[in-house]
Amino acid sequence: MTARPLAGRRAVITGGARGIGAAITRALAADGADVLACGRNEDALRELADSLEGAGVEVHTATCDVADPDSITMMATLAGEHLGHVDILVNNAGCAHSAPLHHQTLEDWNRLFAVNATGTFLCTKAFAPAMAQQGWGRVINIASVAARTGLRYVSAYSAAKHAVMGFTRSIAAEMADRGVTANAICPGYVDTDMTEQTLARIVEKTGMSRDEALASILQTTPQRRLITPEEVAHIAAMLCGENARGINGQAIGMDGGEFLG
Ligand code: NAI
Repeated sequence: MTARPLAGRRAVITGGARGIGAAITRALAADGADVLACGRNEDALRELADSLEGAGVEVHTATCDVADPDSITMMATLAGEHLGHVDILVNNAGCAHSAPLHHQTLEDWNRLFAVNATGTFLCTKAFAPAMAQQGWGRVINIASVAARTGLRYVSAYSAAKHAVMGFTRSIAAEMADRGVTANAICPGYVDTDMTEQTLARIVEKTGMSRDEALASILQTTPQRRLITPEEVAHIAAMLCGENARGINGQAIGMDGGEFLG
């Protein structure tokens, strides 16, 4: 294997400005891919691009709201202008919401589906057909442990992530003989802003301290720790490699052993 296994590959990462998306952008760039990091926060994207100066790859940014089809179309046009063609798409942009069913609103449900599921569908539709045409591609969807099982208080999030998983499997089947793979990574709690927001909600609802709230969520995880964004990024980069071409349509668990019975 070469030191830069993704040299010459071009990658688009949604929600790339922070958290898991930023870690994936860094990992793919470190492996030699040219990257287009997309997100809604221009300043955060610029900061990420600045931090990658000297990485020896092209680093581009684009503002894109994946809940807005026109914004995705504009981002895809920019990707064409900056990168030429796209080999790797990481559908990472996502949002969560937790509440018992009687407090989940139709608005919550529609927002979680628009960002997590429809955003993944539209971005994949924008790039994967051309990957199939060129005979090589990788689609990596950041799903969740909630894509593999039902969990309390996250019915809309879990439903949207299950939709992502079904979509991933179908795209994998559809493109299997065209050199394109589609897989989902399904982490448990990751050390990012999203988990901080979960902790803040627990603090608000229960009066626990932040550390007590953290201890209470870790109690539900087999390894009693948060997954790091870099662990997720490492698996995403691995899936982009040549040696991962046989991995297709999988829900890759990164939950410390949640389903070991
Ligand atoms: P985060 O909240 O730090 O990052 C989410 C990213 O998605 C941000 O860059 C945000 O701006 C972007 N985003 C949200 N809505 C968007 C929209 N409409 N258009 C474009 N970008 C949008 O959280 P984190 O943890 O980095 O989340 C990344 C992905 O990982 C999400 O899909 C999330 O559901 C998933 N995930 C996170 C877990 C966690 O415990 N943090 C666990 C399992 C999965």
